[in-house]
Amino acid sequence: MEPPTMNPVVEPLSWMLGTWLSDPPGAGTFPTLQPFQYLEEVCISHVGQPVLNFSFNAFHPDTRKPMHRECGFIRLKPDTNKVAFVSAQNTGIVEVEEGEVNGQELCITSHSIARISFAKEPHVEQITRKFRLNSEGKLEQTVSMATTTQPMTQHLHITYKRV
Ligand code: HEM
Repeated sequence: MEPPTMNPVVEPLSWMLGTWLSDPPGAGTFPTLQPFQYLEEVCISHVGQPVLNFSFNAFHPDTRKPMHRECGFIRLKPDTNKVAFVSAQNTGIVEVEEGEVNGQELCITSHSIARISFAKEPHVEQITRKFRLNSEGKLEQTVSMATTTQPMTQHLHITYKRV
C-alpha cells in the first residue's frame, strides 16, 4: 500500500515525524527522587489524517525493563499554530495539554489530567513539555511537573536521534 500523503494541517509538526531513540540516555530528576537515567523509543507517525499518532516507551538503561509508557495523538487547529496533545499513560493518568508550535519548537501545558481511583501518590497536578528539533537534527523533550507535594520542577530531559 502507498504511504499516505501528509495532511497539510499537520505540516507545521512534520519535523517531529519518525522513529527516535534516546541518544544519550534521558535524565530524570525531581526533588523527591534520586536522579536516574532511562532509554526511550519514540514513534511519531500519521495516516493522512489531520493528526499525528505517537508512542513513547521508556526502558531501564541496564536491564531494558519497560518503564514509563504513553501513547496518544497530537492535533493542530487548522490555519493556526495551536496544538492539542492527548496522552494515555501506563501509570493510570490521561491528560490533555495545549500550546503552540513555533518553527521547530512545541511548548504545551496540561489543561486537564484524569486518573484512575487507585493511582499512586503523590498525584501530578500540572505538566508542561517542550519539544524542539536542535541544530544537530535531534529531537529534544523536556518535561516539568507539579505534584501534590512539589511545585513545578523539571522531571525529564532527553535527546533522541532519528533511527
Ligand atoms: C516518579 C509523573 C514520565 C520515571 C514520578 C512521580 C510522578 C511522575 C508524579 C512521583 C514523584 C514523587 O514521588 O514525588 C510522571 C509524568 C510523566 C512521567 C506525569 C510524563 C508526563 C516518566 C518517564 C520516566 C519516568 C518517561 C522514564 C523512565 C520515573 C521514575 C520515578 C518517577 C523512575 C520514581 C519511581 C516511581 O515513582 O516510579 N513520575 N512521570 N517518569 N518517574 Fe515519572
